[in-house]
Amino acid sequence: MTTAVTTAVTTIYLNGHYLPLEDAHIPVMDRGFLFGDGVYEVIPVYSRRPFRLHEHLDRLQASLDSIRLANPHTPQEWEGLIARIVEQAESEDQGVYLQVTRGPGPRDHAFPKTPQPTVFILPLALTPPARELVESGVAAITAPDNRWLRCDIKATSLLPNVLLRQISVDAGCAETLLLRDGFLSEGSASNIFVVADGLLLAPPKSNLMLPGITYDVVLELARAHGIAHEVRPIAEAELRAACEVWLTSSTKEVLAVTTLDGQPVGDGRPGPVFRRMYAAYQDYKHTVMRGKEAV
Ligand code: PDD
Repeated sequence: MTTAVTTAVTTIYLNGHYLPLEDAHIPVMDRGFLFGDGVYEVIPVYSRRPFRLHEHLDRLQASLDSIRLANPHTPQEWEGLIARIVEQAESEDQGVYLQVTRGPGPRDHAFPKTPQPTVFILPLALTPPARELVESGVAAITAPDNRWLRCDIKATSLLPNVLLRQISVDAGCAETLLLRDGFLSEGSASNIFVVADGLLLAPPKSNLMLPGITYDVVLELARAHGIAHEVRPIAEAELRAACEVWLTSSTKEVLAVTTLDGQPVGDGRPGPVFRRMYAAYQDYKHTVMRGKEAV
């Protein structure tokens, strides 16, 4: 007797082909595998519309320029490739993961003379934080930022971030907040905002943090909604004394950090400025999803 089993097939894109994930293979000599020599993006998709696509593609270009790898596709080509992955994915809301590596070559640190980049696009499940988490906030922990000095590149070589993130996992926390030379840089996989004396503070973009797409949306919304804010370095003491701490990312959107290193942040609940920003973010997102606004 045979039993029919229906399993959803995930269609991915790899170097010119759309194929089931199970059938996708890369050569073991790919420099992404050997050296983590590549860059990536994670793009949220709502109602099958990629959110801030052009900004993600611009950041991809900046990452590629930084690692001196020619972009294998024009923005129009990327849009087409991503559109097909989005169409074929099961759910209306999803994430698109894309990565470009310097491709296969001999195991030599130096670049191959004529790189053949590997291009991979994968649909991801996208589950923004549940209502309860938004209402309770999350716990975070701090750690010294021991990463390199090019954290502005969205590089696939994420071992430092992986190790830093695991510190919070081991402590039962949602994120590790990183401190370098007495200042807040970002989270292991998110950007961090602080509210002090009613003022929203964001660390300035630099080589020490990833220029987050959600970070930009939050600052734009702060401007649009008259939320007083300043972009300037945030000292560790300010972080520890803050009334509110938030984390932002394409997958987590905006989430309040309500416990830091075991101490409550403010009164230990998401604060009023967070609640305003969260509502503004959801409004904006829904406007985008209804297609009434440029994404
Ligand atoms: N990470 N900083 C770091 C180190 C990150 O890895 C991320 C996102 C961010 C936020 O960037 P954005 O708002 O553009 O998502 C900041 C993604 C989601 C990841 O690696 O899965």
